[in-house]
Amino acid sequence: MHPGGTAVTTAPVRRQMTTPDLVSAFPFPFVDDIYRYSTNVEPANQQVITPAGQWGDSVAVIDSEYHSELAERAAVLDADPTRRAVLPHMRPAAWDALMTMLRELAHAYPDTMHLTSLGDDEWHWCNDLLADERTFRYGDEASLGDDPLHYLSTQVQEDIALLDQRDDQLFVDAGVITFAADWSFGFDVGMSFLEIHGPVPRVRKMGVITRAHEFLKRLQPHEPYRRTNWTMTIGRRLDVSTERYPEWGPDREMIQHVDDAEFGRLVHLRVEVQHLIRLPDSGAIMFVIRTYLLPLEALATVEPWRVRAAEVFAELPDDMADYKGIIKYRTRASEWLRAHAVPQPSADDN
Ligand code: HEM
Repeated sequence: MHPGGTAVTTAPVRRQMTTPDLVSAFPFPFVDDIYRYSTNVEPANQQVITPAGQWGDSVAVIDSEYHSELAERAAVLDADPTRRAVLPHMRPAAWDALMTMLRELAHAYPDTMHLTSLGDDEWHWCNDLLADERTFRYGDEASLGDDPLHYLSTQVQEDIALLDQRDDQLFVDAGVITFAADWSFGFDVGMSFLEIHGPVPRVRKMGVITRAHEFLKRLQPHEPYRRTNWTMTIGRRLDVSTERYPEWGPDREMIQHVDDAEFGRLVHLRVEVQHLIRLPDSGAIMFVIRTYLLPLEALATVEPWRVRAAEVFAELPDDMADYKGIIKYRTRASEWLRAHAVPQPSADDN
C-alpha cells in the first residue's frame, strides 16, 4: 500500500528500469516552453540530434524493448481480438503495408533483417532477432501463414492503422492497435478521420484537423511524413486503451498520494512518433504509431528536457490537460521536475 492507502493498480509489468537507449533515442517532443496543437508534420527520416543522443533515422525502430513489447502485443491480441481489424476492401492495403514495413526494417537493420525477392511475386523474409523466416507470395495469405497486417504486428514495435480514401474523405478501415493512448480502435474502426478527431478540444476552431485532412489526402507515395504527439502515463504501461480503463484509470487518483521517489519512477512522459505514408500499390494511407515512455526520474537526467518539460506541464491550458487525462497531476509533475535537478558533469570532469 502507498502512503495514501491506495493499492497500486498499475501492472507495471516490468521493473521501472530505463536502459540507456531508451534515454538516448527518446524523441523529446517540446520545441518551445509552450505547447499547443498544430498540424505539426515534417518529412520523415531526418535525424534529430538531442542533448541525450538522436532519433528519427527510420520509420521502424527496434530498441531494447523489442522482445518484451512484441510479447505484450501478443498478449493483448490474445485477450482482445477487437484490437485488430481489416475490413474486406483493405486486404490489398494490408499486403502493401506489410511489404512497405518489411522493406523499412531490412533497410534500417541490414545486419538482422533480410528481405529477398525470389521473382514472380515471391519473397523470402528473415528476421534474425526472432529467428523467424518465411517464404511467401505477395497477396497469398496461405503462403504467409497469417493475415499480413497481423504478421506485421509480430515484427515491429509500432502500431499500425490503414486509412482508405474515398468520396474525398479518409476512413480508418484497418489496423492493429494494441497500445492506444486513451482511445478504442474497436470503437473507431470504420469511422472517418474527421469523426475520430471529434473529441479533441480546440482543434475544430483552429482548423488543425481539417488542414491535416487536406494534407493527408494529397500525400504522395515515397514521401513519408511524421509528427509527434504526447501525454503522460502512470507506470510503464503501453496499453492504456479505453477497453482497459478500469485497470489504469484509478492510477490517476493513486499517483497523487505516492511519495516523491515513487512519483518520479511512476510518472512517464509518453511520446508517440507517428508516421504518415501513402502506400504505393493500394493508395491507402498507413498511419504508424510508435510509443515511447520515459519516467520523470530519467527525463530529469537531461537538463534541457527537465527544464522545458516543467514549463510545458505548468503552462498547458486546463482543457488540454483535462483531455489528455493529466489534469490531476500535471502541476505536481512540473514541480517534481523543478525540484529534481541532477548534477550535470562539468567540462572539468573530462
Ligand atoms: C488525437 C492531430 C492523424 C487518430 C489527436 C489529437 C490531435 C491530433 C491534436 C489530440 C491529441 C492529444 O491531446 O493528446 C492529428 C494530426 C494528424 C493526425 C495533425 C495528421 C497530420 C491521425 C490519424 C489517425 C488519428 C491518421 C488515424 C487513426 C487519432 C485518435 C486520437 C487522435 C484515435 C484520439 C481521439 C480520441 O480522444 O478519441 N490527433 N492526428 N490521428 N488522433 Fe490524430
